[in-house]
Amino acid sequence: MNTDLVIRTFIEYFEERGHRRISGSTLLPPPGDPVLFTTSGMHPLTPYLEGRPHPLGRRLVNVQRCLRTTDLEEVGDATHLTVFQMLGTWSLGDYEGPLSLDWGYGLLTEGLGVDPGLLHATVFGGDERLGPDTASLRLWQERGVPVELTVEDNWWSNGPVGPCGPDSEIFLWTGDTPPRSTPTRDDRWVEVWNHVMMRHRRLEDGSVVPLPQRNVDTGLGVERLASLLQGRSSVFECDVFDPWRRLLPPLWPLDEPSLRLVCDHLRSAVVVIGDGVRPAATGRGYVLRRLVRRVLTVLWRDDRSRSLGDLPQELVVHTLDHFRQHGDPGAVHRLLLEEERRFGRLLERGRQVLARPRFRGPLTDEDFHHLHDTHGLPRDLVMSLREE
Ligand code: SER
Repeated sequence: MNTDLVIRTFIEYFEERGHRRISGSTLLPPPGDPVLFTTSGMHPLTPYLEGRPHPLGRRLVNVQRCLRTTDLEEVGDATHLTVFQMLGTWSLGDYEGPLSLDWGYGLLTEGLGVDPGLLHATVFGGDERLGPDTASLRLWQERGVPVELTVEDNWWSNGPVGPCGPDSEIFLWTGDTPPRSTPTRDDRWVEVWNHVMMRHRRLEDGSVVPLPQRNVDTGLGVERLASLLQGRSSVFECDVFDPWRRLLPPLWPLDEPSLRLVCDHLRSAVVVIGDGVRPAATGRGYVLRRLVRRVLTVLWRDDRSRSLGDLPQELVVHTLDHFRQHGDPGAVHRLLLEEERRFGRLLERGRQVLARPRFRGPLTDEDFHHLHDTHGLPRDLVMSLREE
């Protein structure tokens, strides 16, 4: 089952249950949203979760591209990608959590063929403000799915303020042995689908008040589920990486962790550029700059002659297509190359500056400020140049 089929099966299943498909939006969240990039399918829907009527009704389904910079350090492990697609469903003040979980169970087991014996759920166990989510607990007990109760792990929020609520997460067993232990104690339980009972809003003062309507917001990472359904041991082995694995190693022989990082970051850079971001010293542009620089740092570690100019155009086209973007692949390529040249010049200048006697010994905060403000050398770059 490839990713396209997972997406189609998911969308059709929810359309049959009265959901209307909304088109996924850009990675840039609407003004006022506290995050830099869309990290989940609900971002573009925040006003509707807060009570504004949606033109397509109360049941929605979509596939949304997401970027999570919090996962940047985890890139290379079996389950995290910087940019990925999230399938989402919403009940905007319509049905409640247990029905959503029941449909989730039905789709996974009947629609996608997951063995019910490989599932585990987690449910909000209650804290000093709110009681446990007994409705979700009951549903899982009725379906015979084991449940673990947690507190922080089963509370979802978009940021420090805004819509939030208790959630119930569905995990899939990925071990070679029969399932054992629980999701918080054994990381062979991999989270695949989160159902958030989004009916609260956190205010500036930290208090939590009810939203005008009781919503359900669910999200499922496509590449992660597809790789599990395909029996692959990591997201980097699911079908979307096939062209990357075919074309990159002959061009740039890399060890597996470096190959994963290069594929992940280049793919992310293409998508971010596709949504109109340009490299910059701050904000979104800086995230893009860091992605490209990390790729180049890895590529140049072994061979300074490697260049993004050699990146096969097919990979740029494939990525834009996968994320349903309509940008010009040639323009994306040129931008990557321009950024590479800028980074190359910066490294050269950095080496010259750091060779001066003033910067040979231990560096003070004042030195770092001077290097940044006068020579455009960020602290992380200075540190890595000094390690060379
Ligand atoms: N917003 C929730 C999440 O990102 C469910 O979509 O996990």
